[in-house]
Amino acid sequence: MKVLVVGGAGYIGSHAVMELIKTGHDVVIYDNLSTGYEMLIHPEAQFYLGDILDSKQLDRVIEHEQAKAHIDVVINFAAKLIVPESLEMPLEYFHNNTEGVRTLLAAMVKHDIKYIVFSSTAAVYGQPEGGICKEDMPLDPINPYGASKRACEDIIKWVCKRYDMSYCIFRYFNVAGADES
Ligand SMILES: NC(=O)c1ccc[n+]([C@@H]2O[C@H](COP(=O)([O-])OP(=O)(O)OC[C@H]3O[C@@H](n4cnc5c(N)ncnc54)[C@H](O)[C@@H]3O)[C@@H](O)[C@H]2O)c1
Repeated sequence: MKVLVVGGAGYIGSHAVMELIKTGHDVVIYDNLSTGYEMLIHPEAQFYLGDILDSKQLDRVIEHEQAKAHIDVVINFAAKLIVPESLEMPLEYFHNNTEGVRTLLAAMVKHDIKYIVFSSTAAVYGQPEGGICKEDMPLDPINPYGASKRACEDIIKWVCKRYDMSYCIFRYFNVAGADES
């Protein structure tokens, strides 16, 4: 498959890219390197420097890549994710995370890409009673970071329903570990 990995120069994204390439997929990375690192960009992936909020650049990159082969799926890791920072800068978090996903989905609709895998967060649950989190518990985020991701989840569901697309949403807790390299 051809996979567009947005945020593929970050911590989780770069590991996902490694696995995708190891298993024979064709990977395109799109990242603004705001918290990502050049040294994490897999040498076998095609890298584009760009912001998901920049719809023109996103369009150009997707068009250029689709001319070679259709992009089957988008995996989105791009986000700001520091909880205390989100309390200080709520507008920036909703802009980058939520508007970023809306822009990405608009590009996917335009270019007929039907599958999205989204990195959400356990922060969408807030503080569940009893301290144990189950997948079907109500979502009640207690900070702008979690709220920005819950809004992304809603946008993804409605857009996928309207345009006959499919999604998978992961609500990660704290991710740990690193590839030996
Ligand atoms: N690390 C965790 O424990 C954890 C837990 C729960 C959820 N998540 C989610 O997983 C995803 C990846 O997290 P991570 O730990 O790898 O973070 P990270 O900061 O290492 O990676 C995020 C990547 O996205 C890029 N990016 C950010 N905004 C962008 C934009 N507007 N346009 C283009 N690229 C942009 C950054 O440059 C970076 O490379 C995030 O969406 C985060 O909310 C992470």
